[in-house]
Amino acid sequence: MRSIIILLAAVLIANSALAEPVGKPIPIGIAVGQTTNVALFGEEQVNGAKVAEKLLNEKGGIAGTPIKLMFQDTGGDEAGAINAFQNLISRDKVVAIVGPTLSQQAFAANPIANQAQVPVVGPSNTAKGIADIGEYVSRISAPMTLVAPNSLKRALKMNPAIKNVAVVYAQDDAFNVSETGIFQEAIKELGLNIALIQKTSVKDTDFTTQITAILGANVDMVVMSCLAADGGNMVKQLRQLGFEGTIVGGNGFNSPNMYPVCGKLCTGVIVAQAYSPKAENAENQAFAAAFKDMFKKDPAQFSAQAYTAVKVIVDALNEVQASGKDVAGMDLAELHQNLNKALVASSYETPLGEIVLDQNGEVTQKTFYVSQIKVSDDGKTGAMELLPE
Ligand code: ALA
Repeated sequence: MRSIIILLAAVLIANSALAEPVGKPIPIGIAVGQTTNVALFGEEQVNGAKVAEKLLNEKGGIAGTPIKLMFQDTGGDEAGAINAFQNLISRDKVVAIVGPTLSQQAFAANPIANQAQVPVVGPSNTAKGIADIGEYVSRISAPMTLVAPNSLKRALKMNPAIKNVAVVYAQDDAFNVSETGIFQEAIKELGLNIALIQKTSVKDTDFTTQITAILGANVDMVVMSCLAADGGNMVKQLRQLGFEGTIVGGNGFNSPNMYPVCGKLCTGVIVAQAYSPKAENAENQAFAAAFKDMFKKDPAQFSAQAYTAVKVIVDALNEVQASGKDVAGMDLAELHQNLNKALVASSYETPLGEIVLDQNGEVTQKTFYVSQIKVSDDGKTGAMELLPE
């Protein structure tokens, strides 16, 4: 009899340790780079996520229970992302994670969330292979395969005389390595000649060596895959040293936080985008208005994507709730599984337009844009001016 009671007590303790209710408000982790060179993107991501928290809670959160965003700075490297993910999973007991900023960080940190069966939604990871990291990994950021070639086509339309091209890429960053491969294929498919390829680092600040080689090759266009700080500095130095041709930047150039780096010398750079603040869908109109109200400026792509990542999680949590479960009262591990199932193979209305996450968590998006940077006279602010089709 005594041994049966001890056994029952042990089972009860074990069960209570395992059964960990989600609780209220419902915690969602935001693991992005708020410091280092990646903060140029991270600041925009934090702002977009804050708008999501406000708007989605005003709409009732999850059946009346609000969400609460738990912010963790990843810094700019893999170790920072791993640390942020571990804190969010073990200490903050989040229902899902939005992050990290860089694909380079995602390849290191996402396997940890995947192992712990905590859903991760990538808000800005555009390298090939992100959704293949594991069952619990999805993204809302369209891979550059679909986005990057648009900017080259538009550059050629604006200047049909372009023939010789220099390609530049940050060799120590997974997204830029992936993106330059896509750019290089597209350049060849358009019948252009890659006259030279120059490698840089995301930590570089002086590009004299690469620019000297580019000027010596007498090219018509430079196509760059860099992050915002290094990319902005290189554009500035290219112009200062006399390059007058076309410049196309990749997804790392999609941040208005780059404008103060290069000032007016960034004007004219052509960039393909997954978002426009002018998009006319209802989700974007509500998001862009709330963003402008909160931050007194138009949202950038990284802000809209962070909003979208939080929104798909909230929509999927509402789907779990609608299936008859009480999200706030559920066991956390059970919710992780249910949420991940609800996230994939679904479509979502977002500021990026309608997007679909397939069974593997990979995103399909219909509408992309190409813009030209125009920096204001004070060199500090500016806009992405949409180029006509
Ligand atoms: N799109 C960039 C990346 O994937 C930020 O790393």
